[in-house]
Amino acid sequence: AVAVEIAPSILGADLGRLSDEVAVLEAAGADRLHLDVMDGRFVPNITLGPDVVASLRDRSRMPFEAHLMVEEPDHLLGRFVEAGCQRVVVHAEACRHLHRTLATVAELGAQAGVALNPATPASSIQHVLKLVDLVLVMTVNPGFGGQRHLASIVPKVGQVLDLADRAGQSVQVEVDGGIALDTVGPVVRAGARAVVVGSALYRHPGGVVAAIEEIREAARA
Ligand code: DX5
Ligand code: ZN
Repeated sequence: AVAVEIAPSILGADLGRLSDEVAVLEAAGADRLHLDVMDGRFVPNITLGPDVVASLRDRSRMPFEAHLMVEEPDHLLGRFVEAGCQRVVVHAEACRHLHRTLATVAELGAQAGVALNPATPASSIQHVLKLVDLVLVMTVNPGFGGQRHLASIVPKVGQVLDLADRAGQSVQVEVDGGIALDTVGPVVRAGARAVVVGSALYRHPGGVVAAIEEIREAARA
């Protein structure tokens, strides 16, 4: 069995009680907090910025990963690292100069991640694999939680891993979108070693603790 990291997305939480909700996720054994940052341009929704992240930082010991669903995010990279994010994930589709943007994240001392929307091929990141620690494969079109998992995109996990293998690089593949008890198994069997979970945590009748435990169990490859 392999260990799969569970990174809850706070998007489905009660954002009016954000720090309490983060504490619940931490107590439930989450491995990392997935912070969905939306700018209203790259995606048709707006969520939180670096100041909110900074205010959560001293209330949690979890590593923070910022998922920047932000058009041209260069000007915000330093803000999220300063706010306490150990990992910053940018979208390949949002960066005019993706190679330079990813190099900048690493220069800032954070782990660099690149996210791929469903329509974006694995081959699009062939020339930046050396710059990333993580590839975030989106199995929903970004912008909202609670959307249907696009199972047809899961093979991209293997395509990314093959590309990395051929390039002699090791990357972690994380899958984001519609992860639940019934979808996490195929995603892990495809090679993902981290999953983002949002709405499935909050709609579980047993609560967040039970949800994380059951998804972790279902994730054992
Ligand atoms: C969507 C976000 C995802 C989303 C996951 O734009 O990037 O992280 O919040 O939520 P679920 O698990 O409900 O699809
Ligand atoms: Zn996300």
